[in-house]
Parts: sequence; C-alpha cells; structure tokens
Amino acid sequence: MIGVVYWSGTGNTEAMAQAVAEGIKAAGQEVEVKSVSEISVDEAAAYDKIALGCADMGAEQLEEMEFEPFYVELEPKLSGKQTVIFGSWGWGGTWLDDWAPRIEGAGGIVVDKLPIMGTPDDDGLAQCKELGEKLANA
Ligand SMILES: Cc1cc2nc3c(=O)[nH]c(=O)nc-3n(C[C@H](O)[C@H](O)[C@H](O)COP(=O)(O)O)c2cc1C
Repeated sequence: MIGVVYWSGTGNTEAMAQAVAEGIKAAGQEVEVKSVSEISVDEAAAYDKIALGCADMGAEQLEEMEFEPFYVELEPKLSGKQTVIFGSWGWGGTWLDDWAPRIEGAGGIVVDKLPIMGTPDDDGLAQCKELGEKLANA
C-alpha cells in the first residue's frame, strides 16, 4: 500500500495529492490519500512507499503548526523508504529543495519532487499523475 499524506490550506496541494493518487492507481498499485490531520505518524510510517505533500508556508518552510511536527516525528521512520514530495507555492517555491535533504539525511529515498505554483492546471495535474506513477514504479 502506498500512502499520499498532505497538508493544504486552500486546496491546491490537496488537488495535487488527488492527482498523485490517480497516477499510483494507474500504475496498478493500491493507494490511500490522507490529510495530515487524518492519520497518525505510525500509520504513515507503515506504508510501503509514501508521497508527502505540503504547501510552501512560513518563509519557504513546511507548514509549522501541523505538518512540521508530524514530519519531524515521521522523519526517522523514513529510513530506506521510497518517497516523493510535492506541494503548491506562491512566490518563492524553494522549500522542497530544503526538505529533500532532510529526508535523505534520515536515510529515506527521494525518488522525485514536484513544486507547482498556485492552483495546478491540467498540465500540472498531469505532472502530479506522472509523479505518482514514478513512485509506484520505483
Ligand atoms: C501564511 C502563508 C505563508 C506563505 N509562505 C510562502 C512562502 O514562504 N513561499 C511561497 O512560495 N509561498 C508561500 N505562501 C503561498 C502558498 O504556498 C500558496 O498560496 C499555495 O498555493 C498554498 O497551497 P495550498 O492551497 O495547498 O494551501 C504562503 C501562504 C500563506 C497563507
């Protein structure tokens, strides 16, 4: 089972998460999509592979109230696990570049990452789907 776990304030990253899940399904794998408030760290850590999504917040950071604390607890459990990371951004969009080395530093594998500015259009959603397929086939 592959998990897609995301935080989204205004729905852009959520739309990305649903499209990533479509790609995983299209590749013939089972998937669950959960917002970070709907899942425990242990449940997230139990997925065979995981797609993590969070909008770019703060100052080029993960969202601090909910997602960052969740991620900090999950991070040591990502060792050896294949992941992709994604999310929507507004004016900077560099947060995934800081996030990927954190996962890799914990021994996780970042198969790919996908930032999309604002609301994903059809091309953006197709890129999300490809990201899901890539994780499923990794
Ligand atoms: C409080 C707050 C802080 C933000 N900080 C950043 C930022 O540092 N860099 C950036 O590129 N976008 C920033 N944004 C813009 C969001 O990343 C952007 O609106 C994104 O589309 C939100 O995705 P969502 O709909 O999944 O919440 C911020 C938005 C808010 C509300």
